[in-house]
Amino acid sequence: MPQQNERKTLLKAQQGELDAVLMYHALADAVKEKKDAETFRRLASEEGRHAAVFKALTGENLKPKKTLATLLPILYKLLGKKRLYPIIAKFEYNAVNTYAPVAANHPEVESVKNDEKRHGDTVLGLL
Ligand SMILES: [Fe+2]
Repeated sequence: MPQQNERKTLLKAQQGELDAVLMYHALADAVKEKKDAETFRRLASEEGRHAAVFKALTGENLKPKKTLATLLPILYKLLGKKRLYPIIAKFEYNAVNTYAPVAANHPEVESVKNDEKRHGDTVLGLL
């Protein structure tokens, strides 16, 4: 991947991970089942670790955006978990594809990539 494109990807990844921390915490507060809440809190903390991995690569301090954290609890109410969780899982699986070329240059991203696959499986496992 050319260096400029890779930097863009890394910054986008860092932002996405930061936003996901807030998103999973907000979801944890919104969901009915205790197991779901506990799972989302665990995922939030793992996304926090991911953000730190990307921060170390970009050297930038980014601020989390609240958009997804606001939207997802609303979607949970509107769609219910049976329709929402597969959408969340799809985001996680998409991240696997986005991170694969980055992991080729930065071995520390490999475990991040693998976590996203597991996150997708975990979220689907709540259904
Ligand atoms: Fe992540």
